[in-house]
Amino acid sequence: MPTGSTPESQWCLIGNIAEEPPSGPGGEDVKIGTKHFSPGTKVYCFPAEWGDGYDQIRVVARHRGSKRYVTMIISSSWVTNWRAKVVYSPEVIRRLEEGGTRKWESEQEVREYVQMNNDFSNVYDDAARAGAYAGLEFPGTYYLACRDLPAIIGECVSGGCALDFGCGTGRSTRFLLGLGFDSVSGVDIAEHMVALARERDPTGEYLVVPDGNLSQLTPNSFDLVLAAFTFDNIPTMEKKVALFESLKHLLKDGGRIVSLVSSPDTYLNEWTSFSTKGFPENREAKSGDMVRIVMLDVDDKRPIEDIVWTDEAYHEVYERAGLTPINTYRPLGKEAEPFAWVSETRIAPWVIYVLERAG
Ligand SMILES: C[S@@+](CC[C@H](N)C(=O)[O-])C[C@H]1O[C@@H](n2cnc3c(N)ncnc32)[C@H](O)[C@@H]1O
Repeated sequence: MPTGSTPESQWCLIGNIAEEPPSGPGGEDVKIGTKHFSPGTKVYCFPAEWGDGYDQIRVVARHRGSKRYVTMIISSSWVTNWRAKVVYSPEVIRRLEEGGTRKWESEQEVREYVQMNNDFSNVYDDAARAGAYAGLEFPGTYYLACRDLPAIIGECVSGGCALDFGCGTGRSTRFLLGLGFDSVSGVDIAEHMVALARERDPTGEYLVVPDGNLSQLTPNSFDLVLAAFTFDNIPTMEKKVALFESLKHLLKDGGRIVSLVSSPDTYLNEWTSFSTKGFPENREAKSGDMVRIVMLDVDDKRPIEDIVWTDEAYHEVYERAGLTPINTYRPLGKEAEPFAWVSETRIAPWVIYVLERAG
C-alpha cells in the first residue's frame, strides 16, 4: 500500500446495537444511541480514545433515519456481540481512517478488545470473593511475593508517602504500613474489597476510584506506588499504559513504582497456593489473553480470570508510559523454608519490577 493512501481492508472491532436497553447507570446515554441506531445495527468501533475504560466509544454505523453511514459517540454498554473482523467497505474504512484520534494498530489489538468486552470482568468486585480474600495474608506461594519486598523497597525509598494501587481488602496496604511509611493510602475500583479493608483497618485511608481515573489523588505526592497483583487482571496494552502513566504523575521526584505481577509461568504450573491443571487452554494463551487459575488457600474455589502478560509486553507498557525498569526480581522458594514448595524452588511465580520516570 503506498504511504498515505487508504487501505483496501483493515481489522476492526465490530458489534451490534442491543435489542434491549441495559438497566442501571448509563441507560440515559443508551437512549441517545437508540435515537440514531436501530436495534441490531452493525457498529464499527474505534479503539479507546479516552481514559474511561472504554465506556464511551466512537463508532461508525448506518443511521436509522437516513440509512447512511455516520460517525458518533455512544455508550459501549449498548453494544453486544463483540467480534474482530476485516472490513472491506471503502466508506467505513475512510471513516475509520479519518474520524477518530486513534486507529486500530493490529489484529491482536482488536482481539484484545473483543476479549475485554465479551469475557472479562473484575472478578474481585464480588462480595463472596472479597470475603475470601479478606482472610488471606501471604500464605504459601504469596510468601515469595512479600519475603524480599522490604529489602527491595528499602533500597530505593526511605519512608515518606506510599500509595497501594489496587489495594483489594488491604493486605498489601497493611504490609506497606508495617514498613514504616509516614502515610499509606489504598485505592481500588472494587467497593466490596475496599469496604472490607476499612473494616479491618478503620483508621486506614482507603478510597474507591473509578476505573482508569486517579484524579482524586494529588500529583507528585508519593514516594512509592506499589501495585501488588493489580495489573494481573487489567486487560489491554492501552489500559495498562494509561494507568502506569497516571501512576507516574503521582510520583514525587525520585519516587518509584514497584510493580508486582504474575509471570506467565504462574498459569502453566502447580503451586503450593494455586492450581492450573484444570485449565489446559492456558497453554495456548498468548500475551494479552485470558487465563484461569484456582486459589487453594481460600474456600472460594471459583477460578480467577487473569490476563497473561509477558516480560517483553511489560517492558513495552513501561516504555510507552515513560517509565524505566531499574531492577527486576524473580524470587524463588528455598528448601529450608517452612512450606511444601511444589514448583516454587525451580520456577518463579512472581516478577517484581522497580520503575522510575524515564529520562
Ligand atoms: C489480586 S487483587 C490484589 C489486591 C492487593 N493488592 C493484595 O495484594 O492483596 C487485585 C486488585 O486490583 C484491583 N483493580 C483492578 N483494576 C483496577 C484499577 N483499574 N484501578 C484500581 N484497582 C484495580 C481489583 O479490584 C483487585 O482488588
